[in-house]
Amino acid sequence: MNRTLTMLLAAALILAFAQGALSQQDMKTLAPAAFGKLTRPAAQFNHDQHNEKAQLTDCVVCHHGGADGKQDKTASTEGTPCADCHKLKTVGKGTSLTNAYHKQCIGCHQAKGKGPIACGQCHKR
Ligand code: HEC
Ligand code: HEC
Ligand code: HEC
Ligand code: HEC
Repeated sequence: MNRTLTMLLAAALILAFAQGALSQQDMKTLAPAAFGKLTRPAAQFNHDQHNEKAQLTDCVVCHHGGADGKQDKTASTEGTPCADCHKLKTVGKGTSLTNAYHKQCIGCHQAKGKGPIACGQCHKR
């Protein structure tokens, strides 16, 4: 491959990456519209800083897919709100929206022995 083409490709890649990161780079807390009015202060979650510190490079760890009522850990769905699949009130054995966040966030913090697990550490006033 010639030099100019390589540089053009690199520039395109950087641009694509910067655009992809634009929407979540300003995220500091989580307050999904699906909840309506929150009963607790919005959970602390500085998306990019959190994932850098926790060394989470694989998006699918949190942004999994799902079909036919089954979780799909191979299909990445970053950009799709959890609330698109997890509802406030669930019928049957599905994971509700609050449980989805709690299980994923607290579950990993417990497994790694790092990160907040007490209510007030995430729902900070
Ligand atoms: C520790 C879990 C976690 C990891 C890892 C993670 N994300 Fe997210 N991300 C979230 C959560 C939670 C939200 C908010 C989802 C919602 O609104 O329901 C979110 C939202 C987003 C959004 C939407 C922004 C918005 O304003 O709604 C994008 C885009 C995104 N993430 C991209 C990525 C990419 C790309 C990666 C991998 C480099 C990644 N995420 C890794 C948890 C994570
Ligand atoms: C494309 C649909 C889809 C999206 C988007 C999605 N999920 Fe899921 N998720 C599922 C399905 C389907 C299951 C399996 C059935 C169930 O438990 O509801 C599941 C299961 C889970 C479980 C229970 C399984 C376990 O590991 O304990 C948690 C926790 C979870 N999701 C959290 C989240 C979070 C947090 C987000 C957003 C960052 C998210 N999900 C985004 C479809 C989705
Ligand atoms: C796959 C693992 C994993 C998941 C999922 C995860 N975390 Fe963490 N989190 C960590 C680790 C590891 C740390 C400690 C980072 C360090 O300081 O070394 C951490 C630290 C934090 C901190 C402390 C401040 C900071 O930004 O470092 C907050 C707040 C936090 N997590 C909130 C959340 C929330 C809210 C969610 C769910 C949306 C979540 N985490 C999901 C692994 C995870
Ligand atoms: C690791 C971070 C974390 C911890 C620890 C945590 N939560 Fe949450 N919680 C969240 C996230 C993320 C959401 C969804 C977004 C939001 O509400 O800010 C949520 C949502 C909620 C909601 C539904 C939204 C609302 O405000 O009405 C309630 C209620 C709640 N949490 C209560 C608790 C209680 C009680 C505890 C302690 C037993 C706790 N949480 C511990 C992260 C956490």
